[in-house]
Formats: sequence, structure tokens, C-alpha cells
Amino acid sequence: MRKDKILITGANGQIGSVLTAQLRENYGHSNVLATDIRMPKEDTGPFELLDVMDAQKWAQLIDQYEITQVYHLVAILSASGEKMPKKTWDINVGSLLSLLEIAQEKKLNKIFFPSSIAVFGSDVPRINTPQNSVLNPTTVYGISKVAGENWANYYFQKYGVDIRSIRYPGIIGYRGLPGGGTTDYAVDIYHQALKSNAFECFLKADATLPMIYMPDAIKATLDLMEAPEEKIKIRTSYSISGMSFSPAEITAEIQKHFPNFVVDYKPDFRQAIAESWPASLDDQAARTDWGWKENYDLASMTKDMFFQLKKKITLTARA
Ligand code: SER
Repeated sequence: MRKDKILITGANGQIGSVLTAQLRENYGHSNVLATDIRMPKEDTGPFELLDVMDAQKWAQLIDQYEITQVYHLVAILSASGEKMPKKTWDINVGSLLSLLEIAQEKKLNKIFFPSSIAVFGSDVPRINTPQNSVLNPTTVYGISKVAGENWANYYFQKYGVDIRSIRYPGIIGYRGLPGGGTTDYAVDIYHQALKSNAFECFLKADATLPMIYMPDAIKATLDLMEAPEEKIKIRTSYSISGMSFSPAEITAEIQKHFPNFVVDYKPDFRQAIAESWPASLDDQAARTDWGWKENYDLASMTKDMFFQLKKKITLTARA
């Protein structure tokens, strides 16, 4: 058993709930402390309430549980962020800065923080967007993630804090639901296909975005965190991508399983956000430096999503 002790923030969230379970499997149940601003729905292991704006409590938990690694997942996403810009900046950047200070002071072994495709703006080639592009985001979420990437790099260069990061594309999973993102439609569409065979999409049919299936996102995160330090050449954040598709393409894939499935397009303010982001990413740096490789494409993800969601429905009905 490895001796690292891990703290996760935002552990009840879409990524947090899956990552917590995987880390507990890998590092041992009692070595992973889940934290969130709300109590979890089920008791699955060590948990503490934590508002990441309370740096003092955060530092105290790190001491109390002898934490050596932190996965800081808390963030307000793109669509929600537009409704509360100042709060989004305070939470997304303020909490990261608190953590970087704590990490430096307490000499934590490693930190993970997620960045996003939202760091890119309209000044980059939308197809195969290069890792090192001009970053002029249009959303406050994107602005906060660009700042976060630069702070991460600064603390690494100046103080040697071992912080690692991935620019997550839209993440599709079956366990929890995302909240407040522009890519959320790609999760909801599967639920609605099963529930009502119909879906109202807030993006246009051709709004192609980079996406990834949750098991690949978790694999990428753990591979990055477990890679030897010398392999991590980028200390801002690595672009990764599993696939790219538009609402029309995911619809066509779903129709292979549910031929009568219909989608009605009612684009809202999130369409402009989607248009400001890349359609596909060049993630060669992640592939070369620490061996990133996806397992799922749109067809295999869709098959597994329906298999897992149906299993969940059956289990819920039996309970
Ligand atoms: N899924 C995020 C969002 O849509 C992008 O990182 O905001």
C-alpha cells in the first residue's frame, strides 16, 4: 500500500464522485479524504465538510489527516460563471491560490487542478488547436482557468510546488450529473433518450466540441499524477482529448440504439460560448510526455453509457 494521503475538494461533483472511488481503490479507503460544501448522499468513506474559501479550515484538515496530495476539483463552470463573474473569479482563482500557499508552506508532495478547453478563445485555429496557443478566453470561467494555469506554473518555477493539470474537454459520465457547463448537453442527452426518446438541445446541431468519456478522464488524471516528475514538461496545463463531436453526430449515434429518438434545437447563450472554443485539440504533448491515450470513441462510449444507465435504472427500481 502506498503511503500518500489524499484530500479531494468537490468530491460530490461529477468528476469528484468517480475520482474519489478510484483513488480509494488505488490508495486504500482510509487514505482518501473526500470534502465538499455539502454532505454526500451516501456514506462511502472519510468525509469532511469544506468550503474552499475557508483556507484556515483547509490547512487544518491537511494537518489533521496528514495529507500529502490534493486534487482540487471545485470550480464554477462556464455557463454558471457568466451569471456570477466576480464569485467565479473568487472561487476558481482564490481557492487555487490558497491551496498553492498551503502546498508551499506544508511541502505537499503533489497537487492536481483541472483546467479546461475554456482557456481558448476565438484567436486560435478551431481545428486541432495547438497546445501553446494565444489564450484570449471570452468567459469568466476561461479567464479564471488561464490565470490558474499561470499561477500553477509560477508556483512550480518559483517554489518547486509539484502541481499538475489537464485541460479537460467536456466530460461524459453516467454516475453524477455535471452542473453549469456548456458541454452538459452531451450527458443529459443520454438520460433523455432513455427517459422520453426526445431531447431539447441548447446548442446548434453543428456545434462540434472536444469531449472525453469519464473512464478516460480518470485514467488521464491518474496517469498524469503518477508519472515521474521529469516527464512533466508542461506546468501550466496539458490539452487532452478523447473525441470530438457535434450534437448532430451524438444524436445519430444514439439513433443507432433508439431509432425514434428526436432532438429539437433551441440554442441559447451557451451557443456563443461553444463557438468561442476549439472543435478539436492537438494533445500530442500529453501523448509524448506521459503516454496519454484514450480508450473510447463516440460509438464505444454510447454503447457503454446505455449499458451503465440501464443497469443503474434496474438497480434503482429493485431498491
Ligand atoms: N465542461 C466545461 C464547461 O462546459 C468545460 O470545461 O464549462
